[in-house]
Amino acid sequence: MSKETVTKIEIEKATTSKINEVDFNNLVFGNIFTDHMFVCDFEDGAWQTPKITPYQPLTLDPSARVFHYGQAVFEGMKAYKDEHDDIWLFRPEENFNRINKSSHRLAMPEFPKEYFFEGLTELLKLEKDWIKKGFGNSLYIRPFVIATEPGVSASPAKKYKFMIICSPAQSYYGGEVRVKIADHYSRAASGGFGFAKAAGNYAGQFFPTSIANEEGFQQIIWTDSEHHEYLEEAGTMNIFFRIGNKLVTCPISDRILDGITRRSVITMAEDMGIDVEVRPIKVSEIIEAVNKGELKEIFGSGTAAVINPIAGFGYKGDKWELPKTENTYAAKIKQAIMDIQYNTVEDKFGWRVKV
Ligand code: COI
Repeated sequence: MSKETVTKIEIEKATTSKINEVDFNNLVFGNIFTDHMFVCDFEDGAWQTPKITPYQPLTLDPSARVFHYGQAVFEGMKAYKDEHDDIWLFRPEENFNRINKSSHRLAMPEFPKEYFFEGLTELLKLEKDWIKKGFGNSLYIRPFVIATEPGVSASPAKKYKFMIICSPAQSYYGGEVRVKIADHYSRAASGGFGFAKAAGNYAGQFFPTSIANEEGFQQIIWTDSEHHEYLEEAGTMNIFFRIGNKLVTCPISDRILDGITRRSVITMAEDMGIDVEVRPIKVSEIIEAVNKGELKEIFGSGTAAVINPIAGFGYKGDKWELPKTENTYAAKIKQAIMDIQYNTVEDKFGWRVKV
């Protein structure tokens, strides 16, 4: 990434490592964290000296705004190791831009680019042994910003913490994924902050998703909040439908996350000669397509989920299973994107960035 470090980052190395206690072949997503973390405080109107310290709990005042008003945003990124032990990021600039877009919407200060990239580079250099080789292995990177100023007046804080923590990762979902199409609850409304990676967008899904879990679904495909007529996104993933040989996904809006993997899927699919349509998709169109046998695949895309096939879906009490086919678009596109991420092919799109 950046060749020269212009930022002074204070680094305190951990004296011991947890790495030997980790079973890297049986990772559950997001449960284990590496030895260090990056932290930078915003105080007196400016970001202070960034630090890397041993991974440790934070001490916050119980009245800190983040606890009361959810003033918090985050990102999801991954680092990959190739056969030569080189470490790569995938379109990291997009994550940097998006966290600042999310912060802006939540009235939080934007984070400086050089702090972000230099902090991330130094952190990944320290944690390089936590990144295992091989398709499917990665280091999940979680940058986030929280409002730390004490006081429960409902107004933007004047103090924040920007942090990066890292977790070794394999797959996000443990088995087959079935989704429920929302017909009552909503994830986001027009004019709201559904496009932002704000903590509250995820917390608001937990209750409806737990009902869906009891009904045998792992995720919900959210629909427009007004009439529940159009399909939007699946909360941890953007969503794609293969109808006949066309790949269809809905356009992004202020209710939908502008997924970096989503954009990569569209570019990659078009490059493979697949006919891609980005347009509003009605729930009724998908039901009609599945009943006619024209709905060949549904898959989700996201950093954590990568590209995850959907085995079946439900709507208003009815359930459908999708055909189990070989040579799916999901599998082909996933392989092509992973080849770039793991540096096994030339990257003609310029997506891969060496650490
Ligand atoms: C990601 O894919 O990185 C996300 O942020 C989704 C998250 C809920 C795991």
